[in-house]
Amino acid sequence: MAWKGERVQLVPLDEDRHLKNAMRWVNDPLVTQWLLIGDLPITRAAELDYFETVDKDPRQVAFAIETLDGEHIGFSGLHGIDYRHGFSGTGSFIGDPDNWGKGYGKDAVRVRSRYAFEVLGLRMLYSGAIEGNQRSLRMLAACGYRECGRRPKRYWKRGQFRDEILMFLEADQAPTATP
Ligand SMILES: CC(C)(COP(=O)(O)OP(=O)(O)OC[C@H]1O[C@@H](n2cnc3c(N)ncnc32)[C@H](O)[C@@H]1OP(=O)(O)O)[C@@H](O)C(=O)NCCC(=O)NCCS
Repeated sequence: MAWKGERVQLVPLDEDRHLKNAMRWVNDPLVTQWLLIGDLPITRAAELDYFETVDKDPRQVAFAIETLDGEHIGFSGLHGIDYRHGFSGTGSFIGDPDNWGKGYGKDAVRVRSRYAFEVLGLRMLYSGAIEGNQRSLRMLAACGYRECGRRPKRYWKRGQFRDEILMFLEADQAPTATP
């Protein structure tokens, strides 16, 4: 089962296919430079527990990102889903820096947005980017997210307090094709 885009597919987490890469990436300071995870070591036991329990939480949907030919390149998810208000947080990362800037992130965001709006029936998505994460901000903007505000100096990240930039996407601003 996969939700497919033009370049990537979103697939369920699979311990055999995705856990080893997850361990490598969430403990790589380059990958976590702009993430809210990764400042503390993440053990295999903790990551395995996440893989095994995330689907029991109805407020979360977690996907691995793969290329269309099945190479695992990252993770993408919906977090804190609020069905009553049709709202959810979103987050993603592409693990190998060699794969950054090639359009995989944008394609994965578009597939996730269509899934959130057309499959889950949500109406609004939110992503909080840490000030300075230009690649993420441009990815989100290219996929229809717009900045609606900032929480000043919200996060301590790599040596200083940084703003959280609040990015929102409404269903009628998202791509319309079915994944
Ligand atoms: C952020 C991330 C998911 C984006 O995925 P990606 O595949 O690299 O992004 P894409 O190639 O689809 O798009 C990147 C956009 O940033 C631009 N970009 C690429 N390199 C850049 C750089 N060094 N500085 C600024 N912008 C850059 C691209 O031109 C593109 O914007 P455009 O469509 O306006 O031209 C990925 O780089 C990543 O995982 N980074 C580390 C973790 C992270 O920051 N996750 C997001 C947390 S909110």
